[in-house]
Amino acid sequence: MGSGETGASAGLARQQELQRHVARELHDQVAQPLIALLLEIREAKAASDRPERRAADFAQLEESARKILRQVREMMVDLRDKGDLRFNLPRALKDEVPVPAGGTMSLHVTSRWPEELNGWAAFNLLRIVQQAAANAWRHGHAKKIDVVLDVGPSTEAVVVIIDDGIGIEDAPRGFGMAGMEERAAILGGTLTATQLKVGGTRVEVRFPAGLLA
Ligand SMILES: Nc1ncnc2c1ncn2[C@@H]1O[C@H](COP(=O)(O)OP(=O)(O)OP(=O)(O)O)[C@@H](O)[C@H]1O
Ligand SMILES: [Mg+2]
Repeated sequence: MGSGETGASAGLARQQELQRHVARELHDQVAQPLIALLLEIREAKAASDRPERRAADFAQLEESARKILRQVREMMVDLRDKGDLRFNLPRALKDEVPVPAGGTMSLHVTSRWPEELNGWAAFNLLRIVQQAAANAWRHGHAKKIDVVLDVGPSTEAVVVIIDDGIGIEDAPRGFGMAGMEERAAILGGTLTATQLKVGGTRVEVRFPAGLLA
């Protein structure tokens, strides 16, 4: 009986974990891109009296809608079998962190960083960097982002995202930061976001390197 209760509460914990996972995914992969799409529609509407722009605007809107659909499809696949895959995080970051025109993102990967990680660790780290970068471009008006992937001598792994924007100061936390902190906690680690003296924001995730295996 006792073990039945343990099983039931483990099942409930797993279900709650999954619910939070879906909530974070909806925020990052659906809600935010839909807000961006709405802004694009508003811009296209404002320019609707200029026929020469219409075709290009519609093409852009179609591409944005397709991208959201693609992300929803990926979410569904992710929910099934992310844990079994192996990932090259630097490659995923290059492919899947949007960099706006005029912006640059530099990756710094130390030799201690493993070439391939388990799917869950890579996936949560990718989402953290995506959200940190989105904030840096959108709120910080950053031009440059540096991402550092390192494993320290004390078996602690660290991922740092530094931007050259206006800095975070004491901004109130939104869903984005809350999701980033939850993802760090899933990795058994912590996330801090601090204002740099020289300007800009530093987001740092620290977690046990064993989780990368
Ligand atoms: N890199 C950054 N530079 C400047 N300000 C930042 C940066 N990152 C976060 N902020 C500030 O922190 C706030 C909270 O960020 P968070 O990602 O939690 O929410 P959001 O981006 O406002 O909304 P959402 O992510 O839900 O669309 C932002 O509104 C912004 O004021
Ligand atoms: Mg955000």
